[in-house]
Amino acid sequence: MYTVDHMGPRYLRQALAEDVRTGLTSVPKWLPPKWFYDAAGSELFSRITRLPEYYPSRRELALLREHAREIAALTEAENLVELGSGTSEKTTLLLDALTSEGTLKTYTPVDVDGTTLEAAAQRVAAAYPGLAIWAVRADFERHLSLLPRIGRRLVAFLGGTLGNMDEEGRASFLTELRATLSPGDCLLLGADLVKDTGRLVAAYDDAEGVTAAFNRNVLSVMNRELGADFVPEAFEHVALYDARLNRIEMRLRAVRHTRVRFRELDLVVTFKAGEETRTEISSKFYRYRLEREVERAGYTPVRWYSDPAQDFALFLAQVPRRPGEDRPPEYRSRRARHHT
Ligand code: SAH
Ligand code: AVI
Repeated sequence: MYTVDHMGPRYLRQALAEDVRTGLTSVPKWLPPKWFYDAAGSELFSRITRLPEYYPSRRELALLREHAREIAALTEAENLVELGSGTSEKTTLLLDALTSEGTLKTYTPVDVDGTTLEAAAQRVAAAYPGLAIWAVRADFERHLSLLPRIGRRLVAFLGGTLGNMDEEGRASFLTELRATLSPGDCLLLGADLVKDTGRLVAAYDDAEGVTAAFNRNVLSVMNRELGADFVPEAFEHVALYDARLNRIEMRLRAVRHTRVRFRELDLVVTFKAGEETRTEISSKFYRYRLEREVERAGYTPVRWYSDPAQDFALFLAQVPRRPGEDRPPEYRSRRARHHT
């Protein structure tokens, strides 16, 4: 097993400092969601995936159970690259299918949280002794060009994490990723679909308060890394659905006037009582819109798999083998028959 770290302590502090200076001096205030994920944040996310209200992980797992073999046969991947791999739990289904297919040689998990990445890579190494593992601690919004380019690749981006970027961010991400891939390489996207607002909001505002703790964890990260003096209890969790932009927004609302000093930054930020800081967007997709975004970035759709309730989808796309290659004819007919 090899570990590559593009986010050492100095890089991490500098990148977080830049985001804090930009986001917390903007109107309205915002922070990028990548900073939720230290060891504690990843643990809270794992708890979220087991909550009754949070359907996406269960739906995606079921889709992988049903379709991993076909995905393995279609992609013939030698290297499974997973962006935002977290605990790599669902990945086992892809690893098993690609192992049975007989093509898989390398697994490349990529994540910002070094603790969770390392533990997941160790678990996969123990379970798949013949597999080479390149664990890469990196930011997929900044370091795509640094990822190892080994063999025919399947890039898995599961959990709906693409939805944590806005439309512009997704376009840049998909295009930059495309530039690192070779003809025939594939991309497997997990996407949460537009649905009843009540269910969406409940998934981000659970009764037990685990999502609230996850949201507030970004405050602890800033306290530790930048010497800030946030009192997490002075901020309340907000989850709302923006039906125009088809996205959940998580925010932290200051319950009272709050002044926060960042010792390491020589920065003081004030939050008015009731002021909200956006900490995450989680976009929900319509099939045709996601297809269009992916096609615009230069991929050809191969398969769309979704559950009967249309809660979640797995979308497999490929870098065309020939320039200008269009959707394969069976993509349309499959759509009409089963996979709407
Ligand atoms: N794929 C897993 C985990 C999803 S949670 C699943 O489907 O359950 C999102 C994961 O992406 C976390 O592990 C987080 O640490 C990671 N992550 C978030 N932003 C990132 C970024 N910009 N670069 C790399 N990893 C990121
Ligand atoms: C990782 N990501 C896709 C999750 C989501 O649903 O947007 C993160 C999350 N935020 C709150 N709950 C889960």
